[in-house]
Amino acid sequence: MSNPDASQSIRRDNDIPLHGPEAFAGMRKAGQLAASALDMLVGYVEPGVTTEKLDRLAFEFAMDHDAIPATLNYRGYTHSLCTSINHVVCHGIPGPKPLREGDIVNIDITLIVDGWHGDTSRMYPVGQISRKADRLLSVTYEALRLGIEAVKPGDTTGHIGAAIQKFAEEQRCSIVRDFCGHGLGRVFHDRPNILHYGVAGEGVLLQPGMLFTIEPMVNLGRAQVKVLSDGWTAVTRDRELSAQFEHAIGVTEDGCEVFTYSPAGLHCPPYKTE
Ligand code: MF3
Ligand code: CO
Ligand code: CO
Repeated sequence: MSNPDASQSIRRDNDIPLHGPEAFAGMRKAGQLAASALDMLVGYVEPGVTTEKLDRLAFEFAMDHDAIPATLNYRGYTHSLCTSINHVVCHGIPGPKPLREGDIVNIDITLIVDGWHGDTSRMYPVGQISRKADRLLSVTYEALRLGIEAVKPGDTTGHIGAAIQKFAEEQRCSIVRDFCGHGLGRVFHDRPNILHYGVAGEGVLLQPGMLFTIEPMVNLGRAQVKVLSDGWTAVTRDRELSAQFEHAIGVTEDGCEVFTYSPAGLHCPPYKTE
């Protein structure tokens, strides 16, 4: 989601929803179904496929599993997923243009199951990709992994952002500041905002029962983005490659539970399927 406090403020008011076991069970089910949809799409992402075909496959998958794509008719958005190719940072709109050998594409899907939102995204290589694209995907996945590892009750959202930013910048990549992770549950975008940069100890205190996404967008070039005239598509201003992975998590007594791990083990590329 767009980041309303791009200049990070210190907030300890903690007026953040805390959820119990029933919510965790609901989020587990929704998260696993959304991750299964991403698993299903692995076999379809190849040169020549259109992103609107991927969108249709996701819609049919949702219907077959009694789920609702959360993005359908969300603030005027009319598709079941977002497809963000190459220099598109996020919120790319599916369309009739075929994917090409060497593209990298993020597919971001949110499925509502029994009222709970499972929100997750992964990068998909289209055929053979360049070494620099491959490196970006590895850096971005590792940034997300380190962000998840930083979720500890008693620490703050700033610990998450700091871990992600430190790693990405060490790798000479930049972190997008205009979009952030978000609380979720029965609502799609809730408090807290999860910035993918920041300072350990700043932000919001992490407490068991918080539900949110971590979804860093990492650029090979500069961090600056702009939104195209369609009102959705965010691209890098320098047109360099951008990548993103997203998981939905719940804070536990000793860390967190990740709701959106791939049931098929297809966490990040290469997605070897036999
Ligand atoms: N799934 C996106 C997120 O991670 C939100 C997409 S909203 C849309 O928050 F309208 F662009 F689809
Ligand atoms: Co998402
Ligand atoms: Co999200």
